[in-house]
Amino acid sequence: MTIKSFGLALGLAIVCMPLAAAAQSGGSDDIDLASAAQLFKNNCSACHGKKAQGVASYPKLAGQDAAYLAGKLQTYRAGEMVGPNSVLMIQNAKDLSDQDIASLAAYISTTFEE
Ligand code: HEC
Repeated sequence: MTIKSFGLALGLAIVCMPLAAAAQSGGSDDIDLASAAQLFKNNCSACHGKKAQGVASYPKLAGQDAAYLAGKLQTYRAGEMVGPNSVLMIQNAKDLSDQDIASLAAYISTTFEE
């Protein structure tokens, strides 16, 4: 490959990358219910229950609205204590992206019966 065409290919790759990413996720802040369902199943349901019904000291999430859930997840992600067992949630929220939080909040608030 000549230097010139390498430069062109690189330029194209840079221009196309954000487009490809946007096409894949539907935009960075878009709600992705399918991946939220997967996240919930893998990372949340062990404590909060398969139906977000809660058990013992793990609070019920079903019946909460999306804004409340997202607010809590942002607070935990920031490392702030909310209740006596927040450490457990801080661990679980620290790697969530804004999109994960928005999607999880939408998913949980619309999927489970109170
Ligand atoms: C290791 C067990 C555990 C896991 C896994 C877990 N949580 Fe929690 N969660 C808790 C506990 C315990 C609390 C209460 C923490 C406190 O005392 O502040 C909580 C609180 C919450 C709250 C606040 C509820 C309220 O009524 O204020 C939300 C929202 C929440 N979790 C969502 C999630 C989501 C979404 C996931 C998956 C990404 C998740 N949790 C994974 C144990 C867990």
